[in-house]
Amino acid sequence: MEPDPLSGAIMTPIYQTSTYVQNAPGDHKGYEYARTQNPTRTVLQHALASIENGKFGLCFGSGMAATDAVAKLLQPGDEVIVSNDLYGGTYRLFTKVFANYGIKFHFIAMKDAGNIRQYLNENTQMIWVETPTNPLLNIIDLEACAAISKEKGLLLVVDNTFASPYLQNPLDWGADIVLHSATKYLGGHSDVVHGALVMNDADLEEKLRFIQNSCGAVPGPHDAWLVLRGIKTLHVRMQRHCENGEAIAKWLRQHPKVGKVLWCGFEDHPNHEVAKKQMRGFGGMISFTLKDDSIEAANGVLSKTTLFSLAESLGGVESLIGHPATMTHASIPREERIQNGLVDSLIRLSVGIEDVDDLIADLQQAIG
Ligand SMILES: Cc1ncc(COP(=O)(O)O)c(C=O)c1O
Repeated sequence: MEPDPLSGAIMTPIYQTSTYVQNAPGDHKGYEYARTQNPTRTVLQHALASIENGKFGLCFGSGMAATDAVAKLLQPGDEVIVSNDLYGGTYRLFTKVFANYGIKFHFIAMKDAGNIRQYLNENTQMIWVETPTNPLLNIIDLEACAAISKEKGLLLVVDNTFASPYLQNPLDWGADIVLHSATKYLGGHSDVVHGALVMNDADLEEKLRFIQNSCGAVPGPHDAWLVLRGIKTLHVRMQRHCENGEAIAKWLRQHPKVGKVLWCGFEDHPNHEVAKKQMRGFGGMISFTLKDDSIEAANGVLSKTTLFSLAESLGGVESLIGHPATMTHASIPREERIQNGLVDSLIRLSVGIEDVDDLIADLQQAIG
């Protein structure tokens, strides 16, 4: 990041202003009104583009606001093919808001990306992928998805929240738009809600910037500044998230009360080879089931951890534990989630950067 051009301040100032004084109508320094542009946000947009190997970054008030902006590229009658294991809020936005505007969403398994072909028709405009998926840590082959989207002239959108740019850069594999809930690893300290898009195509950037300004779901400068600060330590935090994640995944796997452990670093994890190809590490997100597959058994664990705090969200320095069936993914109907593997006892861990022995001791006393 460059020092502030006005003062040389090494830390980008928080430009807490709603407007900018003009010398004469139209004679200004490139800033007119703070919904449209803000210097703190501009620096963050450049930083985001740079860490995602993209040309343009755009910031939003939340990850959902960024998702909403991308969906507004669509017209009534358009169809979208979406990975079926995805953040519940994205599912809710698509099925409860955009479906009402005549947009059709196909939620499908993408473990084999070739499956997408079955759902293509002349109305298909977009492929929407989350990888690793939330909360089942499924891995989807980005290169294979991009081959289909390029062949058919579709937009490939990748929600890269779980991996973070440190572990995966979807634009390098042919994605058109990368989306982040910067609330998670990019912010990294559980103190900000923020969203981002990164892309290479100038026309696409212009359309999305138009939506950003017209619809107005922009972040305040202080929130942009918090994400800027978070990005400076992303690589160091991610290294520790990965190390701790690996140790905990391996420990859970040998625990007699634990059923399945989902962590994309295991060699027998579905599509592990794809993860190895497109990711630089396997991260700190782990889900596991209990041999006693009941909500009661899961609640027993969830209410006993002390270092792992029971809370929604992920990607912060402090470890979190959650129950997708009743928390983050409660908006997905039970039959649908069970069919996709999101069973009642599934517990999701966002492994933080604390001492790993302390984290394991906490899980040991909670699982018993
Ligand atoms: C993968 C993923 N995408 C998008 C979102 C939405 O982001 P936000 O909560 O910042 O609106 C979340 C939030 O949990 C998420 O986990």
